[in-house]
Amino acid sequence: MEKLVITGGKRLNGDVYISGAKNAAVAIIPAAIMAGGVCVIDNLPYIEDVASLSSTLNKLGASCERIDKHTLRVDSTGDITTYAAFDEVKKIRASYYLLGALLGRYKKAEVALPGGCNFGTRPIDLHLKGFKLLGAKVEVSNGIVRVNADRLVGTQIYMDQVSVGATINIMLAASMAEGTTIIENAAKEPHVVDTANFLNMMGANIKGAGTDVIRIKGVEKLHGAEYTIIPDQIEAGTYMIAAAIAGGDVTVQNIIPKHMDSLTAKLAEMGVRVQKHDDSIRIISEGRLDGANIKTMSYPGFPTDLQPQMTALLSVCNGVSIVTENVWDNRYQYVDQLRQLGAMITVEGRVAMIQGREKLYGAKVSATDLRAGAAMVIAGLFADGVTEIDNIRYIDRGYEEIEEKLSNIGASIKRVEV
Ligand code: UD1
Repeated sequence: MEKLVITGGKRLNGDVYISGAKNAAVAIIPAAIMAGGVCVIDNLPYIEDVASLSSTLNKLGASCERIDKHTLRVDSTGDITTYAAFDEVKKIRASYYLLGALLGRYKKAEVALPGGCNFGTRPIDLHLKGFKLLGAKVEVSNGIVRVNADRLVGTQIYMDQVSVGATINIMLAASMAEGTTIIENAAKEPHVVDTANFLNMMGANIKGAGTDVIRIKGVEKLHGAEYTIIPDQIEAGTYMIAAAIAGGDVTVQNIIPKHMDSLTAKLAEMGVRVQKHDDSIRIISEGRLDGANIKTMSYPGFPTDLQPQMTALLSVCNGVSIVTENVWDNRYQYVDQLRQLGAMITVEGRVAMIQGREKLYGAKVSATDLRAGAAMVIAGLFADGVTEIDNIRYIDRGYEEIEEKLSNIGASIKRVEV
């Protein structure tokens, strides 16, 4: 087992290069099996979730080979089994995209129910409702989802709730349905747009991704494509918040600044100097910042996946801050860990009240999930003394070489074998 050991109090200075977007990668890799040809996917983050998915694709019969650290070649020319109900599939939440991809190409799939981070109930009823509306029969038993259809027929699908996963999954299946599917109240996240762009490169006909109405004209066949994944909005945000809490002058490179608008506005409100450039954002943070109120929402609102990191930052700002989590019903499990470092946070339901402290103190803490782990790292950069974080397999699921990237800008952080 490994842990991260951080000695807090170091200012951060320099450039951080952001990797490809995890949440786009975990949709685009399964989508590649719809090609019936060769896809080359570039700018993939070098993280556990990508490794697990490529090994899953190999087991299904699509040859998935790493050409270099950030590039996969997925050959789905041959026949692929539609049975994906083995243990590895349960490890990553995004394996639910195999349902949409296999249903689209083969009109059937058997996939184990998804795992991933646990921050409350994570139903997939909207995904299944969409498949049913397209004409599939859906059955869930013993932790396995079975979908099959004689034919998939395009239709109008209104999403009761904005869901990234359901929007992408329906887009996958509908790409190879007969006729036109219209998704209303669709998610607008950058990774929804990226997946649509990839599908279009494979020959799909999707319009409107990035707005709340997506129109998908089904095609009979898709083909191989070469594609470069967008930069990771959440990884970029994590380093921006790290720079804000530690103080210093950090430029987050290789990003799409527009994706960061909700965060940059909030950081500026708190007293951080933010300079936007074409593909980078410079963060200059001096002295104690002001608290702020945050409400998480679907894109372009403040992302729930930056909520734990932001709460860590707010725990050392002036005054009282209120965070309202509107997406997940149980995303404050990490708060106990922040309290170990001295944070003063009370939680009631979806609302956290944070009394900013002048200091935090190093302690032994745990990463309770992926972004919670990032929040511990952020708090550790500020805390006096040494912070030890265990359970870092969660962090490795979504952050490429976090300790190298932080060390390069002056943090004292190392990975040690326990
Ligand atoms: C994705 C992200 C995750 C992020 C989340 C919200 C991936 C792999 N993961 O997760 O990091 O936190 O978006 O931005 O991209 N819901 C239902 N029924 C459904 C599906 C969702 O009720 O069938 C609800 C969920 O309980 C949640 C809300 O909708 O309250 C949003 O979930 P969704 O956008 O689907 O999240 P994921 O796609 O699982």
